[in-house]
Amino acid sequence: SPLTTTSPASEFFGINQSIRYGTSTSILSSTAGIVDTGTTLTLISTDALTRYTRATGAVQDNATGLLRLTTAQFANLQSLFFTINGVNFELTPNAQIWPRALNTAIGGNANSVYLIVNSIGTPTGEGLDFINGMTFLERFYSVFDTANKRVGFATTPFTTSTAN
Ligand SMILES: *[C@@H]1O[C@H](CO)[C@@H](O)[C@H](O)[C@H]1NC(C)=O
Ligand SMILES: *[C@@H]1O[C@H](CO)[C@@H](O)[C@H](O)[C@H]1NC(C)=O
Repeated sequence: SPLTTTSPASEFFGINQSIRYGTSTSILSSTAGIVDTGTTLTLISTDALTRYTRATGAVQDNATGLLRLTTAQFANLQSLFFTINGVNFELTPNAQIWPRALNTAIGGNANSVYLIVNSIGTPTGEGLDFINGMTFLERFYSVFDTANKRVGFATTPFTTSTAN
């Protein structure tokens, strides 16, 4: 994908991307954001998070600061599709959750399911409407090509891992 020309995302490894939940629920129309190994969660604009929260039925969990699902809701969770330069990258239900073995390490309950998608704190249209952080990047092989001003992604054997 070429780096985005939209500022301020263009000051980083910024790209244009849209996000869809399941087959047809739009979470974020094509907009600029960044790819960042220094961010743990996958962050989206406040209005996009509202759409994601409605689609998943998640509630805000005060103990962890993350969205929380019941195990029954998790069983119905659908994939999130990140469309980058015309290609869909699928973040499976398992990829959208915090590793359950680490729930208690962040103050959570061992029997709950927490989501790694969270708020960037500002509404869509600010020129930096998402951050594809490590929770996204650990599912894809990624190449940061500064010389050619582009970022590359590819699936790996771990893209659809159910390790979480
Ligand atoms: C990214 O989106 C912006 C805003 O729609 C557009 O101007 C730009 O041409 C797109 N592509 C790149 C590579 O920046
Ligand atoms: C979480 O925090 C909000 C805002 O302070 C509060 O209204 C709500 O009751 C809290 N929920 C729980 C489960 O403690």
